[in-house]
Amino acid sequence: MANRINSSTSPVSVMTLCPDWLTLHRFAGVTAALTMTLISLGVYTAATGSGLACQAQWPLCSDQLIPALTINPDFVEWFHRVWAMFVGFMIIGTAGLAWVGDVSKKTRLAAVAAVLLLPLQVFFGAVTVTIGGLIPGGYTLVTHAAHQLIALTIFTLLGLVTLSSGPGLGLDGIRWALGVAIGLLLPATLLSRALPLLTYSPGAQGWFYLFALSAGAGLLGAAFWSAQREASRVFRACLVALVGLFVTLLLSRDIVLYTATWQSIHLSVVTITLLATIAAMWFARTTGTIQQPTPPVSGDWHPLSLTPESGLFFSRAAGSACTSV
Ligand code: HEM
Repeated sequence: MANRINSSTSPVSVMTLCPDWLTLHRFAGVTAALTMTLISLGVYTAATGSGLACQAQWPLCSDQLIPALTINPDFVEWFHRVWAMFVGFMIIGTAGLAWVGDVSKKTRLAAVAAVLLLPLQVFFGAVTVTIGGLIPGGYTLVTHAAHQLIALTIFTLLGLVTLSSGPGLGLDGIRWALGVAIGLLLPATLLSRALPLLTYSPGAQGWFYLFALSAGAGLLGAAFWSAQREASRVFRACLVALVGLFVTLLLSRDIVLYTATWQSIHLSVVTITLLATIAAMWFARTTGTIQQPTPPVSGDWHPLSLTPESGLFFSRAAGSACTSV
């Protein structure tokens, strides 16, 4: 718990400024999870038609700082903003930890890019709330698509920061991540707009996003670790599934006029996503030559202590955050 000053084996003394449990890996992971809930909440906000609530005011909401705390459009919209503010601080914190921590340049860049996208996201959110509803064409496709795309990009960047600052997992980890992805894709498919089994209600849309994004996190993990292990068939299948999931997420919103043709295209993409994930699992099960990592020495794992450097993606990672030399 206490801060510690640690004279390592290196001739230079390393001072750790954070408690032991506060690692970039954990912080970024929690932030990514919170971002996921924020995105799902955003979808719920849009689906309930609360996007133009708060009497087109921002940052106030219907002349109030805090609206009535009951489930009503003002509250839904306001809560999305407040949650976004909290998550925004967490994203800034992630970048701060990555900045001072002993992490690779790419990990740091990903964390900083997530922060740089924040003002843009707030801008599109604010435009939606205020002038979007007042000018012709303001509350339409472009702002919605931009808000959606930036949200998914921030989530992906946070996922990459989490993965690159954590343990490099081997075959078992990849299979586990793919198992989780398949397990989550099934309820997501049931709730999907492409398969009209259930009513595509605001609640269903929020849950669909939560399941689909969690499945996406599993796929991203599997893709990342298979790239590190140079398991190219697993990696390629994960990539196809990720692209399919991305398209599925977009088609689940009102970015296109959802005609029967779009629904057929959507259903095909959902099927491809599922099949590609199952194929990745199949390849992971039949590939026996992936290097297995050795157990961690202490604290979070360090991928480079586990395998030779592959050079793919983020090659260096450190478990402990806030380390200055
Ligand atoms: C990191 C910050 C944020 C993230 C990740 C995020 C994410 C999202 C997502 C994914 C949606 C659903 C869009 C869709 O239906 O396709 C949404 C909707 C919405 N967001 Fe955000 N948001 C963020 C910040 C904000 C902020 C700061 C505001 C307001 C100032 C805001 C206002 C809105 C509004 C009004 C909607 C509903 C749009 C509609 O009715 O279609 N968002 N948000």
